[in-house]
Amino acid sequence: MTDPAALRADYTRGNLDEADVADTWYPQLRLWFDTAAADPSVLEANAIQLATADAAGRPSVRTVLVKGLDERGIAFFTNYDSAKGRDLAANPRAAAVFVWLAHQRQVRFSGTVSRVATEESAAYFASRPRESQIGAWASPQSAVVESRAALDALAAEAEARFGDGPIPLPPHWGGFRLVPDEVEFWQGRHGRLHDRIRYRRHGDAWVRERLAP
Ligand SMILES: Cc1cc2nc3c(=O)[nH]c(=O)nc-3n(C[C@H](O)[C@H](O)[C@H](O)COP(=O)(O)O)c2cc1C
Repeated sequence: MTDPAALRADYTRGNLDEADVADTWYPQLRLWFDTAAADPSVLEANAIQLATADAAGRPSVRTVLVKGLDERGIAFFTNYDSAKGRDLAANPRAAAVFVWLAHQRQVRFSGTVSRVATEESAAYFASRPRESQIGAWASPQSAVVESRAALDALAAEAEARFGDGPIPLPPHWGGFRLVPDEVEFWQGRHGRLHDRIRYRRHGDAWVRERLAP
């Protein structure tokens, strides 16, 4: 049995200095994201944990893959009728985190989420493998299904419906973009005195501040 309290790693891979970081969050994220994506020891560099809350404030968190990254924010794709889709319809505030443990780094976001334009969802949907397109039509994401066999039957039904023809964007499926008002970069340091630099939106500008670890 492994005692989790006995697990201990020292973080010595890097540091984060005010003199070296970008003036705004996006170029800094680009640098860290591109570094993570280029490193084969980082699995799924575009995975984030996305936290939402329902109208009563009950939180949920799950992993999704970022498929768009630009100055506006981070975009991901999902089923609009899923639990996260319903949370976001009731409460558009969300938080997300990239964790690149191989680099002893995390980047946290907090902001407002809205649906991307239908054309953007359609363009991304068209780029997906056919099995994923069938899956998006077939799966009532977050609903209870009776069995694996019932799920496979839904997929077979969707496959039969489209035959060899093109598969259109399902009306219940598409992208969301999290537009951050705070982005925090964390670099692990020796002795738990980690570096934390937060960018906070202030009108049209970004305020940069160091946080205690
Ligand atoms: C590595 C990984 C990547 C995932 N990517 C996505 C994704 O891009 N979109 C998505 O809807 N679910 C994705 N999932 C599944 C979600 O974590 C989750 O199970 C699903 O979206 C249902 O969440 P909900 O019931 O809270 O809405 C991913 C899971 C993992 C582990």
